Amino acid sequence: MEDLIRPDIEAYAEAHSTAESAACLALREETCRTMEIPQMVVGPLEGAFLKMMVQLVGARRVLEIGMFTGYSALSMAEALPDDGSLITCEVDDRSAALARKHLAKSPQGRKIDIRMGPALETLRDLAGPFDLIFIDADKANYVNYYRRALELLSPHGVILIDNVLWSGDVLLQPPPDERTAVIQELNRLVVSDPRVTAVLVTIRDGVLVIKPKRSAAEKS
Ligand SMILES: C[S@@+](CC[C@H](N)C(=O)[O-])C[C@H]1O[C@@H](n2cnc3c(N)ncnc32)[C@H](O)[C@@H]1O
Repeated sequence: MEDLIRPDIEAYAEAHSTAESAACLALREETCRTMEIPQMVVGPLEGAFLKMMVQLVGARRVLEIGMFTGYSALSMAEALPDDGSLITCEVDDRSAALARKHLAKSPQGRKIDIRMGPALETLRDLAGPFDLIFIDADKANYVNYYRRALELLSPHGVILIDNVLWSGDVLLQPPPDERTAVIQELNRLVVSDPRVTAVLVTIRDGVLVIKPKRSAAEKS
C-alpha cells in the first residue's frame, strides 16, 4: 500500500491522538514480526478513529468483515460497554490463531466472536441490527458487503469501509484491475445512494463513513 499521507504528518497525527492500548501494541508488534503482510493492520491512527466512532455512535453491537490478526477488532472492542459484542469474519486460520492468542490475554477479548468462513456466507445467516459495521476484506465483494451491511444496520448506526482510495488508484481510468473497478463502483454507488449520507475521510488509505438518512417519522 502506497503512503497517501506524508509519513511525518501521519506520525504527528498519531502522536496527537489517544495512544493504542498495551494489548493492541503487543498484537501489532507480533503481527509485524511474524506475518507476511503486516501492513494490512489498520494501525494506531485508524485504530483510534474506529474506537472513536464506536464511542460516538454509542455502539453495543459491532460487525467486522476482515479480522486478520485482530487489531481493529480489539481496538473497537475496547470502546464497547461491558455487555457489548463484536462479531468478526475471517477466512485465514493462521491469522485467526494469532488473534485468538492475543484476545485470550485481554479482558476485552471476551466481547469478540470470531466467525471463520467466507464473510458473504456468514453475513447471510446473521441477524441485525448492528450499530457499527466495519468492512475491510475481499475488495471484489465490496458492493455486495455494502448492500448486506445496509440491511443489517441499525437506523442510528454507521458503516465504515476501508481502503476506498486504494493507494490513489481510484483516480485511474480505465481501472487497472477488477478490484480497483469494484472500489470505484462502490464509491459512485454510495455517493449517489439516496438512502444514506457519506463522507470519504482521507485517513490512511481512505475510509468511507456512511450513515442512513433519518426517516420522516424520526425527524418529527
Ligand atoms: C485487510 S485485512 C483486515 C485487517 C484488520 N481489519 C486489521 O486492522 O487488523 C483483510 C482480512 O480479510 C480476510 N479475508 C479475505 N477474504 C475474506 C472473506 N471472503 N471472508 C472473510 N475474510 C476474508 C483476509 O484473510 C485478511 O485477514
